Amino acid sequence: MTSPCSLFLKQLEGLTYHESLPLAPYTTFKIGGPADVVVFAHNEADVLQVLKAAYQTQTPLFVLGGGSNLLISDAGLRGCVLMLGGLLAEIKVDDSGQEILVGAGASFPKLTNTALKLGWKNALGFCGTPGHVGGAIKMNAGTRLGEIGEVVQEVYAATLDGLKVFQKHELQFSYRQTVFPAHTVITKTRLRCHDASHLHAAEFLKNAEELAKKRKATQPKLRSAGSMFKNPLPQFAGRLIEATGLKGTKVGDAEVSTTHANFIVNLKHATAQDVFALSQIVRQEVYKKFNILLEYEVKLVGSFINDKNEKL
Ligand code: EPU
Repeated sequence: MTSPCSLFLKQLEGLTYHESLPLAPYTTFKIGGPADVVVFAHNEADVLQVLKAAYQTQTPLFVLGGGSNLLISDAGLRGCVLMLGGLLAEIKVDDSGQEILVGAGASFPKLTNTALKLGWKNALGFCGTPGHVGGAIKMNAGTRLGEIGEVVQEVYAATLDGLKVFQKHELQFSYRQTVFPAHTVITKTRLRCHDASHLHAAEFLKNAEELAKKRKATQPKLRSAGSMFKNPLPQFAGRLIEATGLKGTKVGDAEVSTTHANFIVNLKHATAQDVFALSQIVRQEVYKKFNILLEYEVKLVGSFINDKNEKL
């Protein structure tokens, strides 16, 4: 049988790829079907090659980072899934300790730890956030105390016209959101903290540890994708969902966490459809009670079936 991506694969030179690779192991939910093709890129030239080949052969392209904020459907993803590693997972600190050049495939918690050790106060704002740097930039990841956008200076990306540098102001950082043009893959970012000081490193690392402890006590240990919905500020999704009486509600093996209502957890063998159906119940019930339609924070990819039995 010929691969659904054979034209695309013909255009790849010297890149490692796998066909029909299950994606569940690459997500924190441990849920998700296979991708037609998964390609591993180690440098910017690899990313450019994949981006152009996908565009020319009209192959859908999805960049998978830490898989921490993601619900991939049970049927998986058609087209190519791109994962970044090698040079694109490096973290380089400049001599002043005020700048970090980091690859999009680097671990975000590892970056946060590096920044805390350099005495970057802003890192306290986004510590505890999982995933990879590319995803963190794309969704301006963070907590109530701060977000990555505060220290972004510029973002490097592969585009159909070659490599491009975006200045921070071009990307419109806002609550869990940025604006990037289509057909753009983030490859690296330069971060800057003007008032970094090694003198504060020990204090910041201790604060971060305390925050992590607090979070451990208030967030579930079971497999999840983190907060399911954005906070409809000034309200909190967790509070609204709890007030609707939904904690502990289940569909299949998916459950509204009894620890934190804004988390849906995978008890053991939950399917993506279980999680999706449960999330729809949460949205409907919160809407009925509070007239607030919760917006997903978790990114849903692939196809799902809604309560009217329609394929989305
Ligand atoms: N609450 C409830 N019931 C619950 C859960 C929470 O009433 O079951 C109330 C809490 O008492 C609190 C409010 O809701 O008054 C907010 O809860 P919490 O302090 O746990 O923080 P959060 O807003 O739910 C945010 C981020 C988390 C991050 C924490 C800690 C969002 C959507 N979520 O959660 O980020 O870890 O703050 O900084 O902004 C993530 O993005 O995946 C994530 C886990």
